[in-house]
Amino acid sequence: MTTGLWIILDHLVALLSVAAWFAAGVTLALRRTRLALAVLIAAVLVTLVRVGTVAVLASRGWWFVQEKVLLGLPMLGAAGTVAVLLAGRHLLAARRGRGDGRPAGGVVAVLTAAYAALAGLVVTFLAGYPLTWSTALISVSFVGAGALLTARVVAAPAGGTADAGVTQPPISRRRFIGWAGGAVVVTAAGAGAGLSFLPAGSVTLGGGRGRSSRAAVSVADLRGAGSPAPGGAVRRHVLTAKKATVRLPSGREIDAWTYNGEVPGPAITATQGDLIEVRLRNADIPDGVTVHWHGYDVPCGEDGVPGVTQLAVAPGADFVYRFRAEQVGTYWYHTHYASYVGVRKGLYGALVVTPRDGRRAGEEPAAEQVDLTLPVHTLDGTVTIAGRDGRTDHPAAPGTPVRLRLINTDSEPRRIVLAGTPFRVAAVDGRDLHQPGEVSDVGLHLPAGGRYDLVFVMPDTSVALVVDDDRDSGLRLHPDGDAAGAARIEDTSDLPELDLLRYGAPAAPPFDIHDADRHFTMVLDRGVAMVDGRPAYAQTVNGRGHPAIPDQLVAEGDIVRFTVVNRSLETHPWHLHGHPVLILSRDGTPSTGSPLWVDTFDVRPGETWEVAFRATNPGIWMNHCHNLPHAHQGMMLRLQYDGVTTPFAGSPGGSPGHGH
Ligand code: C2O
Ligand code: CU
Repeated sequence: MTTGLWIILDHLVALLSVAAWFAAGVTLALRRTRLALAVLIAAVLVTLVRVGTVAVLASRGWWFVQEKVLLGLPMLGAAGTVAVLLAGRHLLAARRGRGDGRPAGGVVAVLTAAYAALAGLVVTFLAGYPLTWSTALISVSFVGAGALLTARVVAAPAGGTADAGVTQPPISRRRFIGWAGGAVVVTAAGAGAGLSFLPAGSVTLGGGRGRSSRAAVSVADLRGAGSPAPGGAVRRHVLTAKKATVRLPSGREIDAWTYNGEVPGPAITATQGDLIEVRLRNADIPDGVTVHWHGYDVPCGEDGVPGVTQLAVAPGADFVYRFRAEQVGTYWYHTHYASYVGVRKGLYGALVVTPRDGRRAGEEPAAEQVDLTLPVHTLDGTVTIAGRDGRTDHPAAPGTPVRLRLINTDSEPRRIVLAGTPFRVAAVDGRDLHQPGEVSDVGLHLPAGGRYDLVFVMPDTSVALVVDDDRDSGLRLHPDGDAAGAARIEDTSDLPELDLLRYGAPAAPPFDIHDADRHFTMVLDRGVAMVDGRPAYAQTVNGRGHPAIPDQLVAEGDIVRFTVVNRSLETHPWHLHGHPVLILSRDGTPSTGSPLWVDTFDVRPGETWEVAFRATNPGIWMNHCHNLPHAHQGMMLRLQYDGVTTPFAGSPGGSPGHGH
């Protein structure tokens, strides 16, 4: 069973234990002796099962259980033991016909166990990992307050006549216990609340050195080359961000935000070594826009992150990006200003750089190839491929080499199936795989932001590209150009998923992956946290939301390791700017296929990924979930090189609340 399923099961058992303890308390208070005994036994059994589910989760990683082992279960264990002792004895005696009535102490103890079970569950959902003193104090005082209030209610003489069978200490002693207990609870709760306002440190070091005293460099000075490599061309573009009505092939009209009135924006292509120069203008996109080169390791000043590497480009303003196209492959660009709105509405486009291969500058790839760039994007609820909805037909002569460049520009993963031909996954996130083998009848899981280059030789029958198993849309390649003659596609939903961690042939890593200079752990979850200065039910990293998550400090040349853990029930496509990361392992199982260099990897519920990279691109880089609404809800931090500063933080158009 996957860790994700164990997390769900553990939630269910925890919920059941809350219900059982409350039911035991209520039946006991109602003096339903037999029922109360049965329910109490059930509560104890469910609690023991819970210990089992937590033990299994603990074997998957401490991050999944820390607050349960250190707080939730001990609270419940202590309260539950007292409850069993007080109520159990009474119930057994009552069953044997000796004594009846309501054991006030027992009722209070059983309900206190219920409050403890509830507090444990609430801590898991609202606070998570790591457990803090603040959380612990607040939960313990919640349980204590519950116990005191319950004692008052239960022990209050009903209608002035003492309840038969209820044994109570004298009034004065009860008063004293009440006051003292109340004081302890209030103090603990106050201390817990106060601690929660302590600011976190502004950086984490990951076990490496702290900030040095080296002279600071501003990101504003970390700009790209001004000229192409020898023999390269200059590729000039103007991208004007503007609102436009876009008409899909089906006739549907969509109010979009666009670069140059098109969705996707104009494809930017170059040959390796060319200079790419893009002038961004903002016509009328409210508040601002930028261009971020997703997966392209540009110098930091060209990275397009408002509030970090530049100011957002306001309506009427412009900004020029300039960098050398040194990386070959399939990439994309998108706005990084309030991107959870802007990208969804259409502010994105493809960036494709082809190898020089002895070709002259500006020359296009050989004409007999079919080379299609296919951003997949949901516009107004409709999945579009390269800006087209429904089915797209394309001719391809038999024997033609075909390359399909898939780009997931959405915030959710997509399932891709290529039916009708064996093929290879030649590249992932723009980087070529090592000896990728031929596969067929598999599904590909494409993370949000990710890219796959699929290659094959066109057979003499048609080939279908199916997205999310929707056989009525997608792309069809026809050998004779005759769309009507195409064979029906079989149902693709049962095809197994290709595991890229076991695909292709291994090769020696470029650095010693066991000898990291810094190691950062990011535990992803939901919880109550401050996001942009406001409390929210946030998407959190180590229990915090942007910008209260400490920056990760690295020094140039460091080998950096990330452990990314997903405690939540949603998938998080993790994305670091400015560097590809090498996948080391998933859930402790090492990657055994081709070295897998990616800029976005999907951490599914319950998964733990280990990745590493070399810090060779100085700057301040965003490190975030590429489910863009999640990033907006707090799941975003910065990786900061020692000695690099930004003049853009906190400036107009640089509000971190929109810097993603
Ligand atoms: Cu594709 Cu920070 O983004
Ligand atoms: Cu996410």
